[in-house]
Amino acid sequence: MKIAVAKGDGIGPEIMDAVLTIFEANQVPIEYEVVDMGKWVFDKGFSNGMTPEAQHAIEELGILFKGPMETPKGKGVKSVNVTARKTWNTYANKRVFQSLHGVDTVFSKAGIPIDITIVRENIEDTYGGIEHMPTHDVALSRRFITRPGSLQVIKYAFEMAKKNGSRRITCGHKANIMKLTDGLFLECFQEVAKEYPELRSDDIIVDDLAMKLVVRPQDFDVVVLTNLQGDIISDLCAGLVGGLGFAPSANIGDHIAIFEAVHGTAPDIAGKNIANPTALLLSGITMLRHLGFMKNAAVIENALLYTLEQGIHTGDFGSKSIPGKNTTEFSQAIISNFGKTPEHGAKPVIPNMDVTPTVFKLDHNQMMVSEETKKEFIVGVDMFIECSEQPEYIAKKCQRHGGVKFNLVNISNRGTQVWPTGSVYTNLVNLYNVRFESLDGSPLHQQDVLGLYVSLSGDFKICSSELLNMSGGKRAYSLAQGQ
Ligand code: NAI
Repeated sequence: MKIAVAKGDGIGPEIMDAVLTIFEANQVPIEYEVVDMGKWVFDKGFSNGMTPEAQHAIEELGILFKGPMETPKGKGVKSVNVTARKTWNTYANKRVFQSLHGVDTVFSKAGIPIDITIVRENIEDTYGGIEHMPTHDVALSRRFITRPGSLQVIKYAFEMAKKNGSRRITCGHKANIMKLTDGLFLECFQEVAKEYPELRSDDIIVDDLAMKLVVRPQDFDVVVLTNLQGDIISDLCAGLVGGLGFAPSANIGDHIAIFEAVHGTAPDIAGKNIANPTALLLSGITMLRHLGFMKNAAVIENALLYTLEQGIHTGDFGSKSIPGKNTTEFSQAIISNFGKTPEHGAKPVIPNMDVTPTVFKLDHNQMMVSEETKKEFIVGVDMFIECSEQPEYIAKKCQRHGGVKFNLVNISNRGTQVWPTGSVYTNLVNLYNVRFESLDGSPLHQQDVLGLYVSLSGDFKICSSELLNMSGGKRAYSLAQGQ
């Protein structure tokens, strides 16, 4: 078994060396190919932060274990961390948060154990970074939630929950407001849940989830969420167990998986040998289990938990009455505790699985294959126009452009209807959504829409437009607030 290792920037090399020393001392049967990624690779002129050789090695080997990496500021380059997750379609971000004895939190002091796994969709949502400023005053972000994208992360979460014997799997969402996007994610969750009747599955609105996680974290087990909500909820969970220094992360795809700590390069303490390697070690332990090295993972994790229970710590956490260890001393303490069993949360030591290296091959793009296409037709169009006039003025002009095909249905501003009815108290910005539908509800052709576009452009700047589709007898677009 050979994996790619990128040590990263700042404290990256120090904590990676500490973790690899622990692995070596435990005779983990893995070989490492160190690859070039990170700030200095950007500086050498590689705009995606990795050399072509690094990309090739990672694609061949399928596993990347990485330290934190810095994104150069002000050069217009994208984060190599995000590029890696997206390029290799690591669609599920898994983070395990468990109470660690020796890491004091309000919950550990109250004797409330926490063991929560967050599975966050890792590619879609507003993280596509597709943003525009249609007018000087308005910035828009496109939010992508797709059926194949949601299904693959939700299926991963259910499979993982089943394998780990989890007691509950919960979908966090905001489908009460974002009925189509979060609604689709929830629909996919409910669809997949039917295939796992042995698992208790339920859903919760994300704000309620945030409150309940703080009040009764012990009630939750596996939680699956869309990208942005998952990002926020996972940091909330990190706070419950003592902060980002104890947060491991696995980015899982069908062909490539990336294991890394959640924290950054900590430039303020880089090069001093005082960084805490726990989060990267926990990520490495997750990787060992992913690869089937169950025994190595359990022995190392038990040694880590035992070490923490002894009050041994680095400078960033733990009791002030016990002097903090440096990175090397802390990892040596873990090595000296191999074979010890912690009082709390001990992991059963089971044999390593038979590991057969997988041959990675991508023959077709599975994302394009979705369910049977439903009967779909166009019934209207939303025209987003720049205008600083009142709705009544816009309506008068637009009604003329409707012609014999279109009916002006309503005008909204920031999602709230302002015409034909509305309130004088609704504040307006200079981007209106003017909604046209076909006169008698009959299907329209794209040419009809283009005709309307040409006519309307005589009076207004059209910033963008969206077709209004009916799909399988259902409206595939949202109504404006108040419509
Ligand atoms: P950071 O996580 O590097 O540091 C925040 C604070 O936590 C600092 O005071 C730091 O000393 C401390 N800290 C972090 N990790 C620690 C550890 N293992 N042991 C002891 N103390 C630790 O976050 P910041 O300062 O916002 O980002 C610094 C750089 O890291 C930026 O260039 C950012 O882009 C990058 N970054 C990279 C990530 C990745 O590679 N996945 C994730 C987050 C940030």
